[in-house]
Amino acid sequence: QGDFSLRGKGAAKVVILGAGVAGLIAAYELGKAGYDCTLLEAGSRAGGRNLTLRGGDRLTELNGPAQDVKFGEGVYFNAGPGRIAPWMVTLDYCRELGIPIETFINNNAAAYVHTNGQTVRARTARADMYGYVAELLAKATNLGALDRTITKADQETLLDFLRRFGDLGPKLEYEGSDRRGFTKFPAIGGGTPVEAPGTLHQILAAGTGRSIIGDFGYEQATPMFQPVGGMDAIVVKLKEAVGEDRIKTGAKVTKITTLADGVEIAHTGGVVKADYCIAALPPHILAKIPHNLGAQITTALATPAPVAAGKIGLEYGRRWWELEDRVYGGVTETDLDITHIWYPSHGYHSERGLLVGYYNTEHEAELYGSLSPEDRRNRALTQGKKIHGEKYRQNVLASASIAWHRQEHIQGGWVRWPSFDSSFTLLQRPAGRVYFAGDWLTHLIAWQAGAMESARGAVTQLHQRVLQSP
Ligand code: PHE
Repeated sequence: QGDFSLRGKGAAKVVILGAGVAGLIAAYELGKAGYDCTLLEAGSRAGGRNLTLRGGDRLTELNGPAQDVKFGEGVYFNAGPGRIAPWMVTLDYCRELGIPIETFINNNAAAYVHTNGQTVRARTARADMYGYVAELLAKATNLGALDRTITKADQETLLDFLRRFGDLGPKLEYEGSDRRGFTKFPAIGGGTPVEAPGTLHQILAAGTGRSIIGDFGYEQATPMFQPVGGMDAIVVKLKEAVGEDRIKTGAKVTKITTLADGVEIAHTGGVVKADYCIAALPPHILAKIPHNLGAQITTALATPAPVAAGKIGLEYGRRWWELEDRVYGGVTETDLDITHIWYPSHGYHSERGLLVGYYNTEHEAELYGSLSPEDRRNRALTQGKKIHGEKYRQNVLASASIAWHRQEHIQGGWVRWPSFDSSFTLLQRPAGRVYFAGDWLTHLIAWQAGAMESARGAVTQLHQRVLQSP
């Protein structure tokens, strides 16, 4: 970062509100240029939503019982972020901080799709949807439906593609295909294919189509990555680089004041004065803190709506998903209130392993969040049994669940802007000497990359100002 130095200017003092990923990155980058940073963190630990739970941890909850995490040695649960796309700046920080990464399997043909009470492998669901769609389009083409749209030559090319895309028979009909998979795998013998596909009507009625598009999006496309040993490696390394002594935990901000020549931040442990402030708290939390930044800022901060999100980690004494189902990592999609099951993308063939038994948002997350930890677990196990059978409820060693909207200083999984309007852009600029940062100020909401990009943006603006100041 040769462009990022104070060029002989005095080291400005910056107070950063919140030691989540945005706050830590802001402190880390400013630290490189020699700024004097202090982080105020209301909670008892840095990292914010980047949270990895291990045996011995204690997880508290707003108006709910605390959970003592009892996972075995080496077992971890990424209760917040769990996957990183290769184009995201998060991976650049992993490289820079020396954090080893490994593949996160986001799409596994052997995982399941469970809709309307039916469970099929993802490969079967895909083969059937692609097959029938290809057949229909081939039929329409041959009935002349595309004659005015594309040339005969193009139609031939299209038919050739559809034959391959859908694995269609000689009459361009979908009759099922090897792609659907086997109940007895081919070896010396040819294997036993899974039961023949239902009719198009049955496939559509089963609703499998909705559940095969999870990794089509730019953000979710395979391959994705995870830090080896837990997502919180990012927090550990950032804390080290920033200096733990700069992070004051248990310091809840009670007042933000911007002055002509600095800022004054009151918190539960005292008052901090600095030249500038970077407010890296969730907007709905910031909106409730008294300040002198103006009514427009309050309105803007109150505009994005928090979205509930929840996850449960289920530790098993036996990796039955590998041993019995041949599922090595990946995600099962369901229309149940658990929404997803994640299988671990690491520790294959070891003795124990941890599944994410639900990862849901909004209504479903609120539902689970309102239950006791025991009831969340029981409900998750009852739902998962519909997919995996009785073994889903056996050999469960420990579990831990998080309801992000019930985390005291966070109160949401992420936020949703009704629209990326003038409130959004207003907060991307400083209010007096106060800058804002967080994933919520980017188009990468609910990604660490959003927090990082936003922090970099705030730090860049702040630094320009310092260089230009007399
Ligand atoms: N980043 C989160 C995840 O990967 C939330 C999210 C999901 C964000 C899908 C965008 C799209 O689960």
